[in-house]
Amino acid sequence: MAKRIRKVTVPEIRSAPQAATPLVMITAYDFQQARQADAAGVDMVLVGDSLAMVVLGHEDTLSVTMDEMLHHVKAVRRGLSRALLVADMPYGSFHLGAEQAVANGLRMVKEGGAQAVKIEGARPRVIEALAGAEIPVMAHLGLTPQSLHRFGGFKVQGRGAEAREALLEAAEAMEQAGAFALVLECIPDQLATEVSARIKIPTIGIGAGAGCDGQVLVYHDLLGLEDRIAPRFARRYAQQGTQAREAIAAFVADVRAGRFPSPEECYGDPSVAANHEPVKLYG
Ligand code: KIV
Repeated sequence: MAKRIRKVTVPEIRSAPQAATPLVMITAYDFQQARQADAAGVDMVLVGDSLAMVVLGHEDTLSVTMDEMLHHVKAVRRGLSRALLVADMPYGSFHLGAEQAVANGLRMVKEGGAQAVKIEGARPRVIEALAGAEIPVMAHLGLTPQSLHRFGGFKVQGRGAEAREALLEAAEAMEQAGAFALVLECIPDQLATEVSARIKIPTIGIGAGAGCDGQVLVYHDLLGLEDRIAPRFARRYAQQGTQAREAIAAFVADVRAGRFPSPEECYGDPSVAANHEPVKLYG
């Protein structure tokens, strides 16, 4: 009998600050990335609106649409067995208010198969409305890329006494509104540690130091696929961009030199054992 996989749940994540082991989240945008993340044992997979930049090639995250996000959320859903699936609500999908937020949040759950959504910025009314519609919400404060124009660029947030106080208050408001977790992006590590001590829901840091209850990285940063942007917090665990270029260059060279395909890679030669096996294709 197949072994039943124990799925990560929202209540488990919500109670994580009491656990000894930090939470781990990674972004993913397609079926294979989701399978790899799930098999590697992450707790949560976020289909981030960073999709706009690392997959679709835009300069910022503002233009990605609900339909584009949903397309990728569905693919990631198919690749996950264990990890909790969180779908990022793109810019413009909740900014008109609670009603719009719930309508789009429901799409993420019903069409995309998401188990939770993520909302950027301090929006307690929107979080309350989503939670009231049974849609668990992960909040996101600090350097929220959807606030790019208000911030005047991608800049570290929460510096200075006033900004620090505002962020602490906003974090408490997110918890009170019903968020089950809080992403803290690009803020001083002392401030992130203070936020983590002050609220009971887990904080998930990205560029926010080691005092958070968990950490998140963008898939393309972690694997070294993104070489245009290199924030200091984005530790590269592999150089897959270089490997991909080298592999494709080797294919180019083999084809041009007549080394590809070999007889073993063709179907004609009856002395090759593989030719008697059934053909394996995608379709
Ligand atoms: O869109 C995204 O990838 C994110 C993470 C950086 C948290 O919001």
